[in-house]
Amino acid sequence: MRQKIVAGNWKMHKNAEETEDLLNELIDKLPHDIEAQIIVAPTFVNLASAVDHLEFTNIGVAAQNMSQFESGAYTGEISADMLKSIGVNIVIIGHSERRAYFHETDFILSDKVTTALKNNMTVIFCFGEELKDRQNKQHFNVVENQLRDGLFHIKDKDWEQIVLAYEPVWAIGTGETASPEQAQEMHNFIRETVRHTFGSNVAEDVSILYGGSVKPENAKEIFSKPDVDGGLIGGAALKASDFAAIVNSI
Ligand code: PGA
Repeated sequence: MRQKIVAGNWKMHKNAEETEDLLNELIDKLPHDIEAQIIVAPTFVNLASAVDHLEFTNIGVAAQNMSQFESGAYTGEISADMLKSIGVNIVIIGHSERRAYFHETDFILSDKVTTALKNNMTVIFCFGEELKDRQNKQHFNVVENQLRDGLFHIKDKDWEQIVLAYEPVWAIGTGETASPEQAQEMHNFIRETVRHTFGSNVAEDVSILYGGSVKPENAKEIFSKPDVDGGLIGGAALKASDFAAIVNSI
């Protein structure tokens, strides 16, 4: 079943104390009776305390990344099993910052997806074109290739554990947002691309989130589009009142 989702990606922000403060504020300000799924993704070191803090709330916890390997000599890495052992069952994979700064290729990402699914985790799979791709009118091609190379190796039944997040790189952290029409146009293309390979049931059921400078001021209009099922929020997720306003726009 397609679900409305609003997820906050905290990136490399908030130490332990600041994490607790923000979580407390969110518990206070976020709606308790909303049908949408609300998710926050603090940093690795604060995940366990976030799970603890949010135990009796309607707010889920996601990791921002994980290793493609199950275990072994991979200094600095975090495995799916480790995340699950502290109660984290959702992971963001393929964020453009992981692709750009940590050289995560479609090949690596497809392995991460496989490992996450094998461990029964829900994957928020991120992808999106750069500004030059849009200027060269290659944005549909780029997005289709990212989906095919990083994700489309999965089986039909795996889609229950997949959430898509379209994040045009030129709109992330820049204050520049795709217009609601641009978002809808791409989300529709994404859904049709999924339909083409996996059929209508999968295409209709998958949630497609938009990410890139979503703010309280623009959330409602973006979320009103028929193929936009929610958002992946960066900067505005770090302020409880802004995140709450965005959640209330769904
Ligand atoms: P932003 O980030 O909302 O700060 O643009 C979105 C994201 O990177 O997920």
